[in-house]
Amino acid sequence: MSKQQNGNRRSFFLVGIYGLWGLITGALAIPASLYLLLPPRLRRQSQWVEVGDISNLKPDTPEEMIFKRNRVDGWKVVTERTSAWVVKTGSGEIFALAPGCTHLGCAYHWNSQQKEFVCPCHTSAFSIDGKVLTGPAPRPLDRYEVKVEGTKLLVGEIRTA
Ligand code: FES
Repeated sequence: MSKQQNGNRRSFFLVGIYGLWGLITGALAIPASLYLLLPPRLRRQSQWVEVGDISNLKPDTPEEMIFKRNRVDGWKVVTERTSAWVVKTGSGEIFALAPGCTHLGCAYHWNSQQKEFVCPCHTSAFSIDGKVLTGPAPRPLDRYEVKVEGTKLLVGEIRTA
């Protein structure tokens, strides 16, 4: 075998090895880059979470519904138990209030005698639609985005009033 043929053969193998190395590096680098560079919010799957069946809700009688949802915490996705106060109005409108008082985040409850939400921590009171009746809560209760599919209620992000 001549020196010229040896050089051609060596070049052919080097091109093959470097080409294969480049392909493997690219195949690994693309998904790794997407994972590291895309913000976690963009990687989150559906933000809508099923809360439960609302077919038995009575008008103007808030009901606390417990459900699980995923929360993105840095690079981790944490499943947590949370709740929503779901209200069906006399006209059939459905809305869901976030479970934390807008003062310092305590869990409030529905007082069926007084027909208002009451926070046990510093006695803030809210109307059935979440408006502040007595402070120190600085703003109305936050609401979830809601979507009704058949008899099921789904909630999305919490929106500040
Ligand atoms: S946390 Fe509800 S009134 Fe303070």
